Amino acid sequence: MAVTRTFSIIKPDATRRNLTGAVTKMLEDAGLRVVASKRIQMTKEQAEGFYAVHKERPFFGELVDFMISGPVVLQVLEGEDAVKRNRDVMGATNPADADEGTIRKSYAESIEANSVHGSDSDENAKTEIEFFFAEDEIVG
Ligand code: PPS
Repeated sequence: MAVTRTFSIIKPDATRRNLTGAVTKMLEDAGLRVVASKRIQMTKEQAEGFYAVHKERPFFGELVDFMISGPVVLQVLEGEDAVKRNRDVMGATNPADADEGTIRKSYAESIEANSVHGSDSDENAKTEIEFFFAEDEIVG
């Protein structure tokens, strides 16, 4: 299995509850390595740009407002089959549907305040990493 990269966001509901370390430990225990990390306050323009693919969806405005409601931690994660490995440990988008042992089952509050974002394909991972990180900020 090839070593690949994915992009992760620890969302405002998790940073607010001081869960950055707990979430990162679950990612690391799942076999992912944090090769870049930064904590930022996302701007409205950044959030709208990052989630542009969802702009026609009814919850777009709420999603953007939530993502700028507090600090987020952006991470590039590396590991074997990183996109799938990360999606598996994140659990389902709605915590009510998430499996035991996943981040969202453990920590998410709702379908909106669901603690983590993870890229859904290698192609989107590349785009999302490049949205927030310069190549020299990533140290594998
Ligand atoms: S996914 O993971 O992309 O397949 O999930 P999807 O259902 O397409 O949701 C895309 C992102 O939108 C968020 N979301 C919502 N936010 C606010 N309100 C409602 N109702 C809602 N439903 C979905 C969901 O958490 C996904 O965010 P990211 O950051 O991509 O995980």
